[in-house]
Amino acid sequence: MKRSNILGLGFCGLLSLFAATQVFAQEDVIDKRKAIMRANNDTVTKEFKKALEEKDYATIELKAKDIMGGLDAAANLFPKGSINEKSRAHPDIWVKTDEFKTSLTNARKAAEALSKAAAAKDEAEVNVKVKELGNNRDGACGDCHKVFRKDFRKDS
Ligand code: HEC
Repeated sequence: MKRSNILGLGFCGLLSLFAATQVFAQEDVIDKRKAIMRANNDTVTKEFKKALEEKDYATIELKAKDIMGGLDAAANLFPKGSINEKSRAHPDIWVKTDEFKTSLTNARKAAEALSKAAAAKDEAEVNVKVKELGNNRDGACGDCHKVFRKDFRKDS
């Protein structure tokens, strides 16, 4: 009797440990992707602005590459159904998955085009590409948010 109780407890304990690990893992990916998004946002809203004023193309190139890396990492941080009450992710991410991936690729391409314009120190082109990459609401970043961020969608 005792023995089976202990076994039972052990099993339940393992189960809840497993469940807790899943929840932590989920919070972890959500926190990670949000941290990346915020870092990218600081770059497009502050660092690019300052670097543009200073015509500091080396920094723009470097930071555009950081955004590319961030978007690459983000691609693996949206496992199916990873939403919690603090997440702004819209469940359509896992319905219109191809569209989500295309949005990610488009933003990455925009960041790459910016890094190349910066490497060429082409001021006019850098200005165009910064706009194309955009921010929270505009450009390639905004294009994804309009569809896949529930706080930015018009229908929810
Ligand atoms: C392919 C879609 C996609 C692209 C491209 C994208 N984002 Fe996001 N972004 C999201 C989603 C989805 C969330 C919500 C994540 C969550 O809350 O779980 C988000 C969240 C954010 C947040 C809020 C983070 C927080 O702490 O809640 C910021 C800021 C942000 N993105 C900025 C950017 C910027 C700047 C770019 C372009 C360089 C960008 N995003 C590109 C999908 C995208």
